[in-house]
Amino acid sequence: MDAKEQLSLALQKTIAQAFEGVDSPQDITNFLEVPPDTAMGDYAFPCFRLSKPLRMGPAQIAQELSSAWQDHELARAEQVGGYLNFFLNRQNFIKGITEKVLSEGDRYGSKKLPGKKMVVIDYSSINIAKRFHIGHLSTTVIGAALARIYTFLGWDVLRLNYLGDWGTQFGKMIAAYKRWGSKEMIEEGGVQALSDLYVRFHQEAEENPSLDEEGRVWFKKIEEGDPEALTIFEHFKAMTLKDAKKVYQVLGVEFDSYQGESFYNDKMDPVIEELREKSLLIESDGAEVVMLEEENLPPCLILKSDGATLYSTRDITSALYRKKHYGFDKNLYVVAYQQTLHFQQVFAVLEKMGYGWAKDQCEHVAFGMVSYEGEALSTRRGNVIYLDELLEKAQEKALDILEEKNPDMDDKDTVARQVGVGAVVFSTLFNQRIKDIDFWWDKALNFDGETGPYVQYTYARIQTLLEKGRDITAVADYDQLTDDESQQLALAISRFPEAVENALNRNEPYLVTRQVVEIAKTYNKFYYEHRILTDNLGEASARLNLSRAAAQVIQIGLGLIGVETPKEM
Ligand code: ARG
Repeated sequence: MDAKEQLSLALQKTIAQAFEGVDSPQDITNFLEVPPDTAMGDYAFPCFRLSKPLRMGPAQIAQELSSAWQDHELARAEQVGGYLNFFLNRQNFIKGITEKVLSEGDRYGSKKLPGKKMVVIDYSSINIAKRFHIGHLSTTVIGAALARIYTFLGWDVLRLNYLGDWGTQFGKMIAAYKRWGSKEMIEEGGVQALSDLYVRFHQEAEENPSLDEEGRVWFKKIEEGDPEALTIFEHFKAMTLKDAKKVYQVLGVEFDSYQGESFYNDKMDPVIEELREKSLLIESDGAEVVMLEEENLPPCLILKSDGATLYSTRDITSALYRKKHYGFDKNLYVVAYQQTLHFQQVFAVLEKMGYGWAKDQCEHVAFGMVSYEGEALSTRRGNVIYLDELLEKAQEKALDILEEKNPDMDDKDTVARQVGVGAVVFSTLFNQRIKDIDFWWDKALNFDGETGPYVQYTYARIQTLLEKGRDITAVADYDQLTDDESQQLALAISRFPEAVENALNRNEPYLVTRQVVEIAKTYNKFYYEHRILTDNLGEASARLNLSRAAAQVIQIGLGLIGVETPKEM
């Protein structure tokens, strides 16, 4: 049990004693707040929560509770207005949390669930024959972070890259390839060569509309399973994946499945049939749609007038497939907010079909846009930032900084990769998902801001310190750690598990990032204000232990968001 849980239990007991027979809320853990100012205590209980059942003003409740409070080993309680403020007994608290972290190691904050829970996370979900650009960075790192967080908290996770591998554009691409391309050219030029072919196709089709017809014919061939068309298309797909996997490897991102849109080709008919049977399909200008007036949404297009299926048709089918085959408790789509309407429609159609789980268990985990050094990303104007190039540049820049700061360091290239890539990932996961991100190198790589390198540097600094204090074997004397800095650091560490749980409940990895920053900041204060390796060996030992615990939790937190921890920087 952590300090907060102990506190709420003790408070529960106090409430029962002070106000006999009152119906106090079962679990008050969630009512305990962190006061805005550390001088007001470590936790506070807003007594208005009890005003209704007690028919009493908050200040009076706080007064009575503070006189009834008895657990002084745990904390001191003080009434301020309608609040009961708690000051944890520092020695006990710091000792408790430090020893907990050191004994649990890299499992600190993790959970084993009594019953199994399963989540499908659809992320990255790149499109075939498009080069991996910065527009797919957020989905990739948010999704990967969520996958780690759910795993850490005991869920079964299916990491799914729902490839965009279906659509008429692939017919055009094959037509272009047949006309102007060759195996060699593509082998050499990679995905970029494919995109170039596609651009050329569009340019030439403006002069020569018969090209579009060629594209249609090739698409039909893909649909009908023509061997030549499929071979070419599979080749495009393999190439795109080969390039993408290089990026995934640098980012440390993995998937369990790459079943994308084309996988659902032969699975849509029964679903369309079901929609028809349930009288949900309405004809509209030759197309077939599901009306969503009651939901205040535009109609969801299911079949075009030429009988072709759509992105939504496949997403409805794939959600049903996931439910049936994986039995998920949650089904998450980490996709840009531009697709909000699409997911609202898909979930609404599922609901109309009678699948109540769509509303409760499916969630569009939306995120904002990324601009780069002040410029919005635009494929059209040509200022596209490719991810491989971005990560390359991150490593180069990190290397420059390291050369300057620590020229004698071993294995600088590895550290430069960890720091450079870490800076990109960290800044992508620093804010609420929905906020747009403006990426600046100077900001991301600043060693003093709230950045990846800053946190990594703190971790490395602790490693150096632990190395220096290696020979101190005295029993830790936590009674020496009564200062504010030790307390604030211990609090930040103790609040980590809650941050991870909140991150899961809200699908917001930035809550983990922020807590890690909080630990690094409070650690640095602790480090500057106090000599760690003092002559009082009992105190030195306690300070080293608290340092080791801080490093441990930083490592867990950074690991969850996908940032590595170099030992030296
Ligand atoms: N490939 C799509 C895109 O890049 C994202 C797919 C998201 N997943 C889904 N099930 N619709 O925009």
